[in-house]
Amino acid sequence: MADSEKQGCTLTVCRDCCCGSLTKHPGVDHAAQIERLREALPAGHRVRTSLCLDVCAQSNVLVVHPAPEARRRGARPVWFGLVLDDTVLGDIVDWVRDGGPGRAALPDILELSVIPAPRPGRPEKL
Ligand code: FES
Repeated sequence: MADSEKQGCTLTVCRDCCCGSLTKHPGVDHAAQIERLREALPAGHRVRTSLCLDVCAQSNVLVVHPAPEARRRGARPVWFGLVLDDTVLGDIVDWVRDGGPGRAALPDILELSVIPAPRPGRPEKL
């Protein structure tokens, strides 16, 4: 397997004014979400945080970017909103472990959490 095929997805986890806010979401352990993602995803995948992604009404927002090889084949980032509980986070982890955008079909249950990117082209700038 070529090195480029071993590269996994990049997850951008918004953490700013609303995403990650205990004031807005007091029942959510936001730090634990990041830790869970980093622990659950095998090497090759990457988890990073970002400043506000301009869709605060959907906080917590998480974007899954395709692996480079899938991206070259046309896969695009998938945006998720209201990522506030362990169940949806676990479903996202399972999908990324299966390959994520362009490599694994998005489970029906996760379709419910998909949100549109705020502006055309925005994911390219993350
Ligand atoms: S803080 Fe996450 S979209 Fe604004």
